[in-house]
Amino acid sequence: MARVAIVTGGTRGIGKAICESLRGDGMTVVANYAGNDAAARAFTDATGIPAYKWNVGDHEETLAGCAKVAEEVGPIDVVVNNAGITRDGTLLKMSYEDWTDVLRINLGGCFNMAKACFPHMRDQKWGRIINIGSINGQAGQYGQVNYAAAKSGIHGFTKALAQEGARFGVTVNAIAPGYIDTDMVAAVPENVLEKIVARIPVGRLGHAGEIARGVSFLASEDGGFITGSTLSINGGQHMY
Ligand code: CAA
Repeated sequence: MARVAIVTGGTRGIGKAICESLRGDGMTVVANYAGNDAAARAFTDATGIPAYKWNVGDHEETLAGCAKVAEEVGPIDVVVNNAGITRDGTLLKMSYEDWTDVLRINLGGCFNMAKACFPHMRDQKWGRIINIGSINGQAGQYGQVNYAAAKSGIHGFTKALAQEGARFGVTVNAIAPGYIDTDMVAAVPENVLEKIVARIPVGRLGHAGEIARGVSFLASEDGGFITGSTLSINGGQHMY
């Protein structure tokens, strides 16, 4: 039986590339998304991969959403916590809502998905949880105290849950992407982005597929001895 994988924020950007890569590996893939219905429809039309709508920042919605996927598609064996938002701004300009929204979705979403899916993985003694962190969680970033804190939290969450999952055959790893050519990065002001790209030794933005192949490897049978690790895919911008 093919493994069932879910990718949160899976209908666009890095998440979409991850869905396609895992499907190419022979998995049964499901995408989750929160808001953009038109993009989700286009994604499903183009790929045939079903898209389930809920907000991963909401605990009850996430438990219900994952239960629905388990019932309609099958119990979830692989979770890719990719969903994330930015609300960039310097601390002086950042609202409390900008702070809590980013923490609730980017970091809380990992907790909610793990709560929903870990019991089945433990029971069957096999599972993969792959959390998408960020270079900005490792190095910090001007204007991102919320996002950097959430992503840094993801790296700690990964190492803690990896210790709990190991004896059940559940690996938990993180990927820390650098600046990738997605809508999220396109929203960075052009003059700021130019300066960031100038600091990437490889000399360009990354591509979503370059993150997706890393996810595929960590999700594979070959990844069974890798747990609690962070794979940095950032063109050499931050060596950690
Ligand atoms: N270090 C030091 N100073 C900086 C700085 C930096 N990195 N960036 C800006 N400044 C300075 C500016 O030079 C400016 O100083 P002066 O007024 O003396 O000229 C001051 O800080 C204010 O800068 P801005 O005019 O840019 O301020 P703003 O309030 O208009 O915008 C900002 C602030 C929203 C943070 C904007 O700079 C910005 O969008 N920066 C990019 C943030 C970023 O990289 N986000 C990543 C999004 S993608 C992502 O997160 C994916 C991932 O995982 C990698």
